[in-house]
Amino acid sequence: MRFDSSFIEELKARCDIVDVVGSYVGLKRAGSNYVGLCPFHNEKSPSFTVFTKSDSCYCFGCGAGGDVITFIMNVENLDYVSAIELLAKRAGLTMPVDNSSAAAVNKRKRILEMNKAAARFFNSEFASGKYKNATAYAEKRGLSGSLGKRFGIGFCPDSFGALAMHLRSLGYTSAEMKEGFLCGEGKSGKLFDYYRNRLIFPIIDPAGNVVAFGGRALGDEKPKYLNTNDTPAFKKGRNIFALNFAKNSKEDYFILCEGYTDVIALHGAGFTSAVAGLGTAFTQEQASLLKKYKDKVVICYDGDEAGRKATNRAIPILTAASLEVRALSLPAGIDPDEFLQKYGKERFRHLIDESKSEFQFKCDAILAKYNIAIPEEKIKASSEVCALLAAMTSDVERDVYTAKAAKLFDVSEESLKTDVKKKRYSLIRQEKKKFNEGVRRSAMGLGDRVNPDTVKNVRAARAEEAILGIAQINPEYMEKAEKEGILTADTFFTAFGKKVYTAIRDIFEKERKFDPAFLAGDFTPEEIGRITKIRIDRQQLSNNTYDVFAQSASALAKEKEASEMPVETLSDIEALIQSKRNK
Ligand code: CTP
Ligand code: MN
Repeated sequence: MRFDSSFIEELKARCDIVDVVGSYVGLKRAGSNYVGLCPFHNEKSPSFTVFTKSDSCYCFGCGAGGDVITFIMNVENLDYVSAIELLAKRAGLTMPVDNSSAAAVNKRKRILEMNKAAARFFNSEFASGKYKNATAYAEKRGLSGSLGKRFGIGFCPDSFGALAMHLRSLGYTSAEMKEGFLCGEGKSGKLFDYYRNRLIFPIIDPAGNVVAFGGRALGDEKPKYLNTNDTPAFKKGRNIFALNFAKNSKEDYFILCEGYTDVIALHGAGFTSAVAGLGTAFTQEQASLLKKYKDKVVICYDGDEAGRKATNRAIPILTAASLEVRALSLPAGIDPDEFLQKYGKERFRHLIDESKSEFQFKCDAILAKYNIAIPEEKIKASSEVCALLAAMTSDVERDVYTAKAAKLFDVSEESLKTDVKKKRYSLIRQEKKKFNEGVRRSAMGLGDRVNPDTVKNVRAARAEEAILGIAQINPEYMEKAEKEGILTADTFFTAFGKKVYTAIRDIFEKERKFDPAFLAGDFTPEEIGRITKIRIDRQQLSNNTYDVFAQSASALAKEKEASEMPVETLSDIEALIQSKRNK
């Protein structure tokens, strides 16, 4: 949908970029700008910059950037319209109505309604008691009774298309059932239920919509769980199981587990802040979703190697969303559900109370690997712990844990501090080197994913950047140059440059001004980052005049002509150069 420019302006005026970015990233003032640790890649020294003059941001480390709208698109992983929706809500603005997105909204609504009908169907089949195997299985797993009811546990009968028939009777079409990932279509064109003979776990979003289902096989059939694929009403990495209940729990932390059954068992034992991802690796969006409701998370993954690895992967994702993270270790080979059965809730409460900070969790993993009574092993262990300490960004935190580690290894705090300092310097050096290498490569146009044509003619690409930078600042130059016949979209050498130019010109034609917010619908966030960088680079310069614009246009035209020289001419030139060299 295309928004009115006055609406976008109002929105941006009310959503100060420093405020908005600041609620995701700790920002520090740097001159007239602000810097912080980039939320889009892992880094230890801040290269994410918010430019107050141009209301934009850019990461010099990874190239992410844009205005406040694209920032939200990136950080919340939302599409353009949803990002605007989020900001409008934040600013207390009412969204303008639009008919083109009404169709999409409608489709989503229909699927959600259909899901609700399906959940009711599964539920009443389960409650009917007709399916002894399902009842027995649920009982065995502690999923019958009021707990199962609370979670809306259901059962999909083992018949070809019982659900399909039911949904059809309610007026849903085959297309809708397929799109909603409830039914598939056989060769004969007959619909079949995906979740046949499975116990159903409905996945309900915080607004109370049934967005998806997980279906557990009653025995050892594969797959153990069948889950809803992405549908117009559901994206896997964006939802969290049981958040609809857990968000209202009185605890100030979430308990994050791996499985549906773990969560339900925990709720049954009174740990009502338990949630789970949906069987995929934990994502940044899921972390932001949790952060909306609480500031702390205790990770409670399975007590096996996979669980520990998943914990280590989830920790930086959660901390990047400014969540305070702790982790607890379950006994080997046990998940929370089994733990509760074996040891009871008192002991689980104890585990929560004793849960460890990120540092302790990792430190313990290191200590478990080595026998620190042996000097060589102690040195190895201490060096690994030093690396952990060196990677901490907060000085206070680093000092506190260095002191703790010194006690643990029975070494002097001073000597440990010196080691940590050395490691930290080399870490920062490494990062700088990597950063500079990135800058060098991008200056040469190597490995440029956004504009892969850059390598073909670096000079042309540079001229294009000058034009596109100035065009964003003084869009009226485009018309002037076109009138004078020195520039058209076809003058551009790279496909990316041409696309950006065309977009800026179209926006200017309609709006009589240029605002990068209008680019968001047609470009990826990565591309917006580049377009922003091009503008910011130009804004640092004081020569954004029409003369420079025109010169760049003619330079580009020349480069383009040279690149388009017929091959014979090119090989002639090469032959000439070769013959000169040989002289
Ligand atoms: N999962 C999945 N598909 C599978 C296996 C697992 O989607 N084939 C997801 C489910 O969300 C599951 C979670 O990963 O809840 C954790 O997996 P696992 O520990 O194997 O399942 P449990 O929830 O413990 O289920 P159960 O106790 O029935 O084995
Ligand atoms: Mn499990």
